[in-house]
Amino acid sequence: MSLLHTNNEYSGKTALISGAAGGIGFALAKEFGSLGMNIVIADIDEAALNEAQETLLLQDINVMACKLDVSEYSQWQDCVTQTLAKFGKLHMVINNAGVGGMPGKIEQTDNDLWRWVVDVNLMGVLYGTQAAAPAIKKHGEGGWIINVASMAGMMGVPYSSAYAATKAAVVSMTESWAVELKPHNIQVSVLCPAFVKTRIHESLRNKQSKYGPTQGRKKFTDEERQKFKKGLNQAAALVESGIAPELLAKRVVEALGTKQQYIFTHPNYRQVTAYKEALINKAFDDAQQSELVKHLIDDDIPML
Ligand SMILES: NC(=O)c1ccc[n+]([C@@H]2O[C@H](COP(=O)([O-])OP(=O)(O)OC[C@H]3O[C@@H](n4cnc5c(N)ncnc54)[C@H](O)[C@@H]3O)[C@@H](O)[C@H]2O)c1
Repeated sequence: MSLLHTNNEYSGKTALISGAAGGIGFALAKEFGSLGMNIVIADIDEAALNEAQETLLLQDINVMACKLDVSEYSQWQDCVTQTLAKFGKLHMVINNAGVGGMPGKIEQTDNDLWRWVVDVNLMGVLYGTQAAAPAIKKHGEGGWIINVASMAGMMGVPYSSAYAATKAAVVSMTESWAVELKPHNIQVSVLCPAFVKTRIHESLRNKQSKYGPTQGRKKFTDEERQKFKKGLNQAAALVESGIAPELLAKRVVEALGTKQQYIFTHPNYRQVTAYKEALINKAFDDAQQSELVKHLIDDDIPML
């Protein structure tokens, strides 16, 4: 007997989820699959992808696997084409695939690794939306675009500026697309979790060869190497202390139910955005007092 729930707004519709061979993407695939959605899991890791497909099939989920490197637009197009061929329509895309990059000081920045993080975390989300949005618009039934950012997108993260910058960009892209796609009844939301128990701290396992070798790129002193190792251990401990991906997936469904544009999973992190808001308010107060620009205070804002 099937354990799928089929009496809901998702049932019979189709979701395409990037980075769904493990971690958060896989938990979302399981959750939306259990709600009766057809699921396309897409990932760069073919072995993990096949394993994930087997697991979902055993749970009676209607699933198709698609090999995808999110940094390649043509591969996104292929996945959308395959989705439409198999399930007829596409209603939801979850731009979840992401990588943590390589933490370090500004002067140690490896620009190839920065480009890797930008290509996966930022361009991957753009390409996914570019490839999927026309298909979602086409049937006129509306749908969802869910972009996976992070609490790191709501604040800067010392020594991890590539990760924080790309996640802030994903928040901003979501804010732009939410307005643009509203007339098409497409809900665009951004998921901003804090720590979740996954393999994000081992992201280098997925780095494509086009970004060069991982080992031996630069000469580090023993002290630098020790510090780096310590940093990685700390990152692993933080991720390990995180919430279960399955809990996060249920929270996503809950927040979509009330059409949240920002989906938060860790209410204790409100102090982070409150701190930033306080700084911004202080800076606006300063501008309002400025002899140079205070005359602009009552001007209309174009486009609002
Ligand atoms: N785990 C956390 O604490 C946490 C917190 C906030 C946000 N996030 C975000 O959640 C998302 C999912 O990460 P996760 O925590 O599940 O990590 P994870 O490493 O467990 O899973 C990431 C998945 O993405 C795949 N992937 C990596 N590069 C890819 C590429 N180029 N193309 C396609 N697939 C690729 C991997 O194979 C893997 O299956 C990421 O965007 C991450 O930044 C994670």
